[in-house]
Amino acid sequence: MSMKGNFGEIEYVINESIGGELPKYLTQEEVKKARNFHLSMDEYQATPLASLDHLAEAMGVKKIYIKDESYRFGLNAFKGLGGTYSIARMLCKKLGVDIKDASFSFFNQPEVQEKIKDMVFVTATDGNHGRGVAWAASKLGCKSVVYMPKGSSEIRLQAIKNAGAEASITDLNYDDAVRLANQQAKENGWFIVQDTAWEGYEDIPVWITQGYTTMADEALDQLQLEGVDRPTHVFLQAGVGSLAGGVLGYYANVFKDNVPVTIIAEPEEANCIYKSAHVGDGEPHNVTGDLNTIMAGLACGEPNPITWKVLRDFATAYVSCPDYIAATGMRMLANPMGKDRKVVAGESGAVGAGLLYTLMQSENDLREKLGLNEESIILCFNTEGDTDPVHYRKVVCEGKNPQLS
Ligand SMILES: Cc1ncc(COP(=O)(O)O)c(C=O)c1O
Repeated sequence: MSMKGNFGEIEYVINESIGGELPKYLTQEEVKKARNFHLSMDEYQATPLASLDHLAEAMGVKKIYIKDESYRFGLNAFKGLGGTYSIARMLCKKLGVDIKDASFSFFNQPEVQEKIKDMVFVTATDGNHGRGVAWAASKLGCKSVVYMPKGSSEIRLQAIKNAGAEASITDLNYDDAVRLANQQAKENGWFIVQDTAWEGYEDIPVWITQGYTTMADEALDQLQLEGVDRPTHVFLQAGVGSLAGGVLGYYANVFKDNVPVTIIAEPEEANCIYKSAHVGDGEPHNVTGDLNTIMAGLACGEPNPITWKVLRDFATAYVSCPDYIAATGMRMLANPMGKDRKVVAGESGAVGAGLLYTLMQSENDLREKLGLNEESIILCFNTEGDTDPVHYRKVVCEGKNPQLS
């Protein structure tokens, strides 16, 4: 059962029958395996959880927390969590080792290096995932090849090359670039590390999704230190939905019958999760075309069929967002109120916070339906910093993508 509605151009679907089978691959035990592996890395450090108290007061809610992944591994985005964990799991499989026994340094031992040094990892990416894969592969002494969709940022391309990959911008959209990576893997005996699943390709995207949960687990620890056992509301952005499904699936396992109200935000031109909820037959549905949006990380037209089930069963609302929502979030977080901490949020990182602002500041009925009020404790994930600094400045300093009303 679902309810559909809109305010202005913003369209939404509310899930009125929350519940379903808890995802077994996102239990606390699985999440700890990923976090323990990340803990074994020299670069590992929990990213900050910013408590924006002045903003919360201005918005009329109790608390706003932003988990700031721009600090992750020095890569300016959360994606390295999935790249490192999935490649480690692939190497473990090849070597016949249990991930529980494999720290990062294990793979750098000369006798292990000898066995893995010729492996080539390939992927398609808008930027962040490819940078994470390239970085993880080179740290593990392996090679990587990265294909980017048409229109990708040259700055992001350079960042991937700098992380050690052979990388290029294709003339394909994201989903077709994924098919190219898959074909190249088959032809060359490379290993595809893709952050979405399809029939017969499930283990690796599940490992990637598990890798992402490290940030969700850190956030719960950090909230505990603030005296908060459970956020009442979680805003999650979706491209294919692996990130949102991973975080929500883990929280569903932790909070069971009391899952936080979870809002899935997507760009309106690439709203495949929203569209799937809108069709309402329980199946994932694709969006095609150029997927034009400033939220490059979310410009994906085909849901990950595995994490779609989590989003279908446990999310409260699916919201299709014009680009100005992301731009609003970028500006709001770049200009903190009072003593609040500044958060540098890129286009895909800021949309959740931008949607929160829009819900609290505009005339709409969704705010009430979601129970957003002075008791609300809100958790957003800033999944990237200024990964395209030129565009970041256009939005934040020059007012690009304003709300036209
Ligand atoms: C910064 C950022 N946020 C969010 C996402 C969305 O992740 P997913 O495609 O798993 O939904 C991406 C994906 O590339 C991203 O780069």
